[in-house]
Amino acid sequence: MYSDVLLKAWAEDNRIQAPAMKNKPAFYRNLEKALDTRRQTQSLMGLKPRWEDEVADFTTCDFLSLSRSGAVREAFLAELENHKGFDLSAAGSRIQYGNYEYLNQVEQEIADFHGAESVYLTQSGFAANVAILSSVPLPGDAIVYDELVHASSHEGFHLSVAEHKLPFTHNDPDSLRNVLTKLKNSVPEFKTGARSVLVCVESIYSMDGDVCVLQELIHVVKEEFPLGNAQFLVDEAHSIGVIGDRGCGLVSMLGLEKEIAIRIHVASKALGSVGGMILCNKTIRYMLLNHARSVTFSCAPSFPMVASIRAGYQLLITGQSRVAQETIQRNVKHFFGSLTTNPIWEEALTFNNMNAYPMVFPVVPKGESRLRLVFHAHNTLEEIDKLVSNITEWAAEMLDIERGISESALPKAARQLYAMQGSVGM
Ligand SMILES: Cc1ncc(COP(=O)(O)O)c(C=O)c1O
Repeated sequence: MYSDVLLKAWAEDNRIQAPAMKNKPAFYRNLEKALDTRRQTQSLMGLKPRWEDEVADFTTCDFLSLSRSGAVREAFLAELENHKGFDLSAAGSRIQYGNYEYLNQVEQEIADFHGAESVYLTQSGFAANVAILSSVPLPGDAIVYDELVHASSHEGFHLSVAEHKLPFTHNDPDSLRNVLTKLKNSVPEFKTGARSVLVCVESIYSMDGDVCVLQELIHVVKEEFPLGNAQFLVDEAHSIGVIGDRGCGLVSMLGLEKEIAIRIHVASKALGSVGGMILCNKTIRYMLLNHARSVTFSCAPSFPMVASIRAGYQLLITGQSRVAQETIQRNVKHFFGSLTTNPIWEEALTFNNMNAYPMVFPVVPKGESRLRLVFHAHNTLEEIDKLVSNITEWAAEMLDIERGISESALPKAARQLYAMQGSVGM
């Protein structure tokens, strides 16, 4: 069983190390000591063994199944076949030799698909956020962000020279208005338009699974900053391929292309490959070239990487991924339909954390650990039914424990886990 292999690997990773390293170099002992603080709460992250396709997948980011089905590989190989003489390396950064024609063509194709003025490709979605946030806000500017934005945005905040970095309550237009009003009132340059604000949100939040109330947030920003010195960055990592016409994402689905200064799309999820796409105008593009050190001082994306991104986009653009996109919607509706019509659901609602894969600190805040469910086109209705029955069985067990009518103080899964820990000497 995959769960046995996974638990064994996890138990191994979480075995305390430093005390047994008295005679080892202090450098490594100190590092292991730091890692032990995670091991003490059994939350050390390690490399997980990969599972076979037979294991029901409610975890991976291959939402449209383009990777698992081989569709993106086929499109990629066709791309290579059509460009047999490609150079493997870009052989320089974009501002030097690395700016090759194929890369420019693919960027333009992606820009046309999303209704953007231009696209800039980066090595990953993480790199895209870091590049934008480290280069666009100027000294004295402000970054105002939804409190649940991704770690890559926070990395960019650290690097940014913006003077103000202020969170607002998740998906809450009133909280955004509060933050903006305070900013305007405390620093007059924000009122006169001499300083700018970048408002950072995501189209779909992957940990809470909710959709950004983008139109409401835009309304607030326009009211509070009528001079246009507050603009949006929308990270569409979780919406590309999944929502909108042929998976064009939330901003295009809502027809808000002109309202949003910067959109980040990623290839590592629904597109089945890797890379980041920054959708922006030419001004922002020049800021990237001149002020994003990860752009200026790093080699341009290689041909194979760009070809793999194009392969995924071809499947979207030509409508070949449409059925997969519809299947995800069917699967999610089936899941909620089955779960919420189960009699246990009403009571089980009191238990918040009912998904498939554990998400713990630092991925989510302390005290908000959860199990996350990710639905894909390759999930079958039978798998979803099984998942629902597992959840409802667990919920029934928990309710019996809560009511004091269970023979055990722990649900079956926890008992199995402790037995496994015991068997590996933890
Ligand atoms: C919202 C968001 N932005 C950016 C990224 C980074 O994307 P990539 O995997 O391409 O680095 C992720 C990845 O999990 C994400 O969830």
